[in-house]
Amino acid sequence: MVNQWLNVRSLISEEDLYQIYKYENINEYLKFHPVNVVEHARSIEKWIDIPTPVLESYKMIGRQTPLVRAYRLEKQLQTNNKIYLKREDLLSNGSFKITSALPQAYYGALEGKKSVFTETGAGQTGVAAALAARLNGLDCKVFMVRTSYELKKLRRLMMEMYGAEVLASPSKDTKAGRALLSNGESNGSIALATSEVMECISENSDSFNIAGSLLDFVLTYNSIVGLETIKQLDEEGVQPDIIVGCVGGGSSFGGFALPLIDRYKGQLTQVICTESSSIPTLTKGTYCYDHPDGEGLGNKLLMYSLGYDFKPPAMHASGLRYHAASPIVSYFVNKGFIEAKAYEEKEAMLSAIDFSRAEGVIASPESSYTIHAIKEICHEYDNKNIVAVITGNGQLDLESYGVFL
Ligand SMILES: Cc1ncc(COP(=O)(O)O)c(C=O)c1O
Repeated sequence: MVNQWLNVRSLISEEDLYQIYKYENINEYLKFHPVNVVEHARSIEKWIDIPTPVLESYKMIGRQTPLVRAYRLEKQLQTNNKIYLKREDLLSNGSFKITSALPQAYYGALEGKKSVFTETGAGQTGVAAALAARLNGLDCKVFMVRTSYELKKLRRLMMEMYGAEVLASPSKDTKAGRALLSNGESNGSIALATSEVMECISENSDSFNIAGSLLDFVLTYNSIVGLETIKQLDEEGVQPDIIVGCVGGGSSFGGFALPLIDRYKGQLTQVICTESSSIPTLTKGTYCYDHPDGEGLGNKLLMYSLGYDFKPPAMHASGLRYHAASPIVSYFVNKGFIEAKAYEEKEAMLSAIDFSRAEGVIASPESSYTIHAIKEICHEYDNKNIVAVITGNGQLDLESYGVFL
């Protein structure tokens, strides 16, 4: 089993890190996250040992996840490319999100914190936080973007199964939520839910946030996804050519792709991250300093953004409804190491339906964009090894698929 994380910050020079984080305020970080997590958020050491209790909990929830060759998809697409899928959907909570939630909960409990506040879009972050909190003896309150709260009732129930309290965001519990509700805006967004969480933690000193995406330490904890993939490719004697994943805030893609970029530097044909054309952060956003939250309270970071006050439209892949992308992923996109591609919802969802008929896997709507990209890649290339990550299970998103069926 992989027993170290790759610190994604170590892949960038100190001068470039300084530029990205020049408005960062460490005291702000300490207000919201456990000390060990903040240390990792600042570290530039390449490798971080995974504590034994975290390794044990990784095992319990199903790490390492399989890397499988998608023979039937290859046949369906009539391609001679080889397609390998990293199956994060097989984790017991249903998505990769538990991979970073577990260490955050572990470090919070270790320093004596009592409760967790977290924001969630599609609900996957909330489910992961609820489970990670429960496994570490912590209470958990989740602000769930209202559109998903109403659409993804079963995922909300899953959080409640794990003992969390779930509120629709914008909520009446916070000033940020009440301000939006009084303006008649009730759809919500991950950025707004983040603002609600920040407000609650500021008022509860023994609480902390389990961050679901964007921040470097989340990508670092998720790096086990890419490191396992490298190990599994080595075991098969396979050298990857094309790497694909989807981006909301960029933590799954960063955790998966950055270790592969580091290992196979200069040998990859293409590294592709996919997004929704309704929220084209990386394809149409600006590379600029912007706030990570919806209220403009958090420190500005250098990243691709559509503007912190961008109000994303409702969509089925709610986990992609975020105005910005991880500073580290944004950096590699800006440098041209990673190429971003945006697709329409309908083409992505239809490709995922075809995929379920080929492989028997009902992928999360977020991963439908990855699946559509694989199809496009197979039109363009021959004889390549394509390695993609399926970030989550879509069995609780069947109503979304139902619209297209
Ligand atoms: C299943 C799934 N895949 C992908 C994403 C996007 O993740 P990230 O924000 O790390 O890009 C999410 C976010 O909620 C998700 O739930």
